[in-house]
Amino acid sequence: MHRGGDREPAPSTIVILGAAGDLTRRKLLPAIYNLGLDGLLPDAYAVMGFARRELDDAGFRDVARDGVARYSRRPVDEAKWPEFEKNLFYTRGSFDDATAFAELKRRLEEVESERGIPGNRVFYLSVPPSAIETCVQQLHAAGLADAPDGSFARVIVEKPVGHDLESAEEINDVVATVFDEEDVFRIDHYLGKETVQSILVLRFSNSIFEPLWNQKYIDHVQITVSEEEGVGTRGGYYEEAGALRDMVQNHILQLLCLTAMDPPWSLDAEVVRDHKMGVLNCLRPLRGREVERHVVRAQYGPGRSGDEEVRGYRREDRVRPESTTETYVAIQAYVDNWRWAGVPFYLRTGKRLPKRASEIAIQFKGVPPVLFNADPDRDVAGNVLALRIQPDEGLTLQIATKQPGPAAVISPVDMDFNYGTAFAGQSPEAYERLLLDVVVGDASLFMRRDAVEASWEWVTGILEGWDASGARWLPEYAAGSWGPVEGDRMIEAEGRKWRAL
Ligand code: BG6
Repeated sequence: MHRGGDREPAPSTIVILGAAGDLTRRKLLPAIYNLGLDGLLPDAYAVMGFARRELDDAGFRDVARDGVARYSRRPVDEAKWPEFEKNLFYTRGSFDDATAFAELKRRLEEVESERGIPGNRVFYLSVPPSAIETCVQQLHAAGLADAPDGSFARVIVEKPVGHDLESAEEINDVVATVFDEEDVFRIDHYLGKETVQSILVLRFSNSIFEPLWNQKYIDHVQITVSEEEGVGTRGGYYEEAGALRDMVQNHILQLLCLTAMDPPWSLDAEVVRDHKMGVLNCLRPLRGREVERHVVRAQYGPGRSGDEEVRGYRREDRVRPESTTETYVAIQAYVDNWRWAGVPFYLRTGKRLPKRASEIAIQFKGVPPVLFNADPDRDVAGNVLALRIQPDEGLTLQIATKQPGPAAVISPVDMDFNYGTAFAGQSPEAYERLLLDVVVGDASLFMRRDAVEASWEWVTGILEGWDASGARWLPEYAAGSWGPVEGDRMIEAEGRKWRAL
């Protein structure tokens, strides 16, 4: 995707609505800072924070400095900081206050005219879904959503876009009353990760993989996004979300699309997104009894995280003591098309698993049961191609080889590639890439409306299945374990096993 190099960002202002939140401090300001250090920002730019919190420009610059010091991949460079912070501004106001938006507009015009920025604006809605409607309407009413001729007004919508299909449609409708789809950038930060972007490069820049990338040669695919952390301070949000909405609807389905899509005929954003839609359109719906058979949900109980004893989910802050919110989900999914007919995609994600590790593993079929694979008691394992998304980014190809010695003893060995070793230097953070893409107007790594809604439709089928089963109880797994035994049983019922990560 993403040719890079030929993309000149136009002078612009990034306006962050909800700028007092964690995302701004932890991710957005550090990302902008790093883009600046890499010389990737436009010659003239500004960042305008907007939130209810009592702050002025100086206070916002302090927030930025603190965020960079704590969370940036590179530390504060004392020589460069003063130049950077001069571009940061803040306007105080609440989302329902029209005069605050009028003031925002006045300040934007002032800053833009001082810096020669021709009214190009990116509005980052770092706000809960319930505030999206108010924000876009205020932007519209203040005349901020209409870009002057020759400039742009783009909007970035953070996840979650909705709570289910219906609410996602409502949000998309509201946004569409004010912004054209081509100016709407729905962010999924997984798509900004270097290793996620390299999935298509791996598939379509190497001649050895694509001919095998189908049901003739692939037995199944496992996509795992495992987190060691619990819900931390986000219990209030997570109670309403759960693992299915929080991780599967967006990140995991996007990984699935990149793994399963047909080759796009160009890298144009619309073409790539059309091909991803091709996968979502073929995802077999899971409803009713299918949900019971092919989906496992569970919640972490007390256990260990590293050396520490940790509490169970129901004891976390802002979590109901009788909560039935799932913190783990495992799904056996199918993409019913020519390429993938009959190939299960096992998806799993959970919090408080033993480690942070995300990977996509392609399990190839075994060789015929002759020659070295003739002995049924000593199966030669099929090849596995594992793409490690994080944290140890790289890929491993598992192949069968002969152990040295007189007997033909076959064992699997790994051919390993590691990004960190192969390419010195750090990878940019996902938000760096994504913010820059919005400024240059490249939507390839963003979610189109139809994809968000198709993902919700699939996930809503599962949610309805859970509602219908009326289960008041859900399996528990000990914090620090690899999830409930039900998750193992689901995959083992088909004679397969979760990979050990
Ligand atoms: C977010 C989820 O979208 O992704 C979090 O809301 C989750 O619950 C996070 O922890 C994981 O992101 P990453 O980049 O740390 O894998």
